[in-house]
Amino acid sequence: MSEPQPIYLSDYRPPAYRVTRTELTFDLDPSATRVKARLHLERHPDREAESPLELDGEQLALKAIAIDGQPLAPGEYEVGEAGLVVHRVPAAFLLDTEVEIAPDANTALSGLYRSSGMFCTQCEAEGFRRITFYPDRPDVMATFSTTLIGRAEQEPVLLSNGNPVERGELPDGRHFVTWEDPHPKPSYLFALVAGDLKNVEDSFTTMSGRDVTLQIWVEEENLDKTEHAMASLKRAMRWDEEAYGREYDLDRFMIVAVNDFNMGAMENKGLNIFNSAAVLTHPQTATDAAFQRVEGIVAHEYFHNWSGNRVTCRDWFQLSLKEGFTVFRDQCFTADINSAPVKRIEDVSFFRTAQFAEDAGPTAHPVRPDHYIEIGNFYTLTIYEKGAEIVRMLSNLVGQEAFRRGSDLYFARFDGQAVTIEDFVDCMAEASGQDLSQFMRWYAQAGTPEIDAHGEYDYANAEYRLILRQRTPATPGQPDKQPLHIPVRLGLVGTKSGRDLPLTLEGESLGSDTVIHLREEEQEFLFTDVSEAPVPSLLRGFSAPVKLHFPFSREDLAFLQAHDSDGFNRWDAGQRLALLALDDLIAAHRNGVEKVMDARVVEAFRALLAADIDDKAVLAQMLTLPSEAYIAEQQPLVDVDAIHAARTFVKQSLALALRDDFLRLYEENRLDAPYAPEPEQIAARSLKNVALSYLMAIEDETGLELARAQFEADDNMTDVRHALTLMVHGSRGDIADPALKVFGEKWAHDPLVMDQWFAIQVTRPQPDVLDRVAFLMEHPAFSLKNPNKVRALIGTFANQNPVNFHRIDGSGYRLLADTVIELNRLNPEIAARLVTPLTRWARFDETRQELMKAELERIRAEEDLSPNVYEVVEKALA
Ligand code: PHE
Ligand code: ZN
Repeated sequence: MSEPQPIYLSDYRPPAYRVTRTELTFDLDPSATRVKARLHLERHPDREAESPLELDGEQLALKAIAIDGQPLAPGEYEVGEAGLVVHRVPAAFLLDTEVEIAPDANTALSGLYRSSGMFCTQCEAEGFRRITFYPDRPDVMATFSTTLIGRAEQEPVLLSNGNPVERGELPDGRHFVTWEDPHPKPSYLFALVAGDLKNVEDSFTTMSGRDVTLQIWVEEENLDKTEHAMASLKRAMRWDEEAYGREYDLDRFMIVAVNDFNMGAMENKGLNIFNSAAVLTHPQTATDAAFQRVEGIVAHEYFHNWSGNRVTCRDWFQLSLKEGFTVFRDQCFTADINSAPVKRIEDVSFFRTAQFAEDAGPTAHPVRPDHYIEIGNFYTLTIYEKGAEIVRMLSNLVGQEAFRRGSDLYFARFDGQAVTIEDFVDCMAEASGQDLSQFMRWYAQAGTPEIDAHGEYDYANAEYRLILRQRTPATPGQPDKQPLHIPVRLGLVGTKSGRDLPLTLEGESLGSDTVIHLREEEQEFLFTDVSEAPVPSLLRGFSAPVKLHFPFSREDLAFLQAHDSDGFNRWDAGQRLALLALDDLIAAHRNGVEKVMDARVVEAFRALLAADIDDKAVLAQMLTLPSEAYIAEQQPLVDVDAIHAARTFVKQSLALALRDDFLRLYEENRLDAPYAPEPEQIAARSLKNVALSYLMAIEDETGLELARAQFEADDNMTDVRHALTLMVHGSRGDIADPALKVFGEKWAHDPLVMDQWFAIQVTRPQPDVLDRVAFLMEHPAFSLKNPNKVRALIGTFANQNPVNFHRIDGSGYRLLADTVIELNRLNPEIAARLVTPLTRWARFDETRQELMKAELERIRAEEDLSPNVYEVVEKALA
């Protein structure tokens, strides 16, 4: 087989033929589904009459083909691996094809497949070509009519996009439903679902007074897990009207939960298909975090109806046009209805850990890539989360009002079109009158920019001089970078008053919190009339996705943690302080020197516990140490054992020094009220559970007793799971093992709870965990064909158990590579994603580097390597 070839953004050409209308008929059968397609095609006016018609198509058995009713003779067309070519076609014509496909054999979960006995589809990005021959690209938009024929008994429910317009009985126990979607859409937004599903129904009245029917379709046993998703959907619909003036545009909106799904969820027009993990919740089966995730994902998919569906992407290089914008929208939604500072802290912690690592590794790519081999590999943190950070910077740069005018302009101007990132940014430039040309570099340059900052206070002249230097490290294919336009939000906090000082820059008074614009490689900012020595609070709210270096002393950081008016930076100061202490301890561990706890960290924690912080959710975040992954991100060379030892030592030292405070915190935050997934309760639970984590770090009788009692009280999954995790991750097998068994037996029938049961076990830091992973892979609840199971067991192990994944004997790496090799045949998209931790070899010592590279080589040597895995492994070994 020849090597897969990349495709380039610079090669973009509009399609030679567009489809204006698509009529589909599915005769559903698990192993032999027949798909008839009638396409209304038109040649692009600029293209010659000789232009052949080229349609994408994979794994399709062509049964019939005709143009304007005339069957084609064998020499008039060709079918290859990747599609169909018809040599001569009229300027406008009807193409009829009929193909046969095998949903049962589809383990890649792209195209038409089966999940728990039902039929469903996944077409983004290029799954539609596994359903029928089609110009499967987002700049071809057509209205769709879809007729589904199924067995009345096995598939009583037949769903597709738009509105149902006809239904009826057929011979042999079959029946049909026809759906009509009046909004032109690209093929990636097509969907169908057929099976024995039940639904809950609700309704929503839009801002112009139209009634929309809302339905959530699930397997019968999950009907009691839909309430939260429905409530979230209604909140999202209202929010999009208020925040963006966007109204829903069909008579019904449907969500379907499926157990086998590669991603979180999919925004198919009027028929969103969700991974069951992203929609089902119940106090007994889902944690607070899961409730919040569901709310965010339901909103995200709903928001796509405008940012993605009504206005879509011209080509897949523009993926962040819809994803970055929609993530930004869902982040703002969540911030509005919950705690805004906590949402920001959670998002940034995740971003700085995972996206920074991606940006520093061999698969680093710009938010708008200029080439790819397999688009399925580009649903990344960079496209999604860094894309969202760019939109956030834009909104801060132009201001909220101009941003809203810009988005109104974007939706009005491009409704029904497939457009580019420039089109979006141009609307923002037009609405604000700002020049955003330098800003566009954010989309083109990969890598995390770093800012080296320092400052000096001049007592005599009451001036503060701040010097900022920016640089973006080289990334694969991009050795040299240009300076970016970086908005830096800041304040100067007076060391005497503890307050934000008034800011005067070049004679202009700017209040006490402002944004300065770093555009050059190096820039100096001179603040005048600074009446006392300040500590600068820089990059407030994480105003740009960069690494900021400033020579803060530990005293500065303790001061900012206590006094900064920006909640985000107060939290960040605490994290920086803890990181400095952790650095010392990591060094001590490596040098075999006795570890000594930094008293300043203990005092900072003591102060936090004594202070009257009314936002409990923020306090819980402030009491949480940086994760091992984030600490690793800060190290020049990652030493997983030293990091684990240092962090454990800090936790235990804090627990010993502040045991009574943590006990008090635990007691004060117990709830008597019945469980509700509401911000105040969630905050109290997280504070209580943070306290329990510290108490369990020393595993004294009190902590053990509290954990056991919390588990046995069996009040809600948040508390149960947390208590169980602490016990299982501890050293007391006599307590943990029976609890684990009780839990596993109680929930054996619930796949989403079993995923948690797997995850709890494989994150255990003890060295026996590898055997446990291997053992659990044989468990009846595990299946390599189900992406949730693979993620829960293998993905969680490789990404969240650093000490064991990186064992020096290479057994963790081998286990991952073995799994990747098996999955390469079953589900290439999931296989390629799973390789990620191995691609980060350059961050480790030489022994581990060699071991990791050897596993990558072993994968590369596989026959029939999918383009997905090939692309990732090639980059990692380049
Ligand atoms: N477009 C989906 C989303 O972000 C994600 C997705 C991509 C789902 C590809 C399936 C396949 O909401
Ligand atoms: Zn999305």
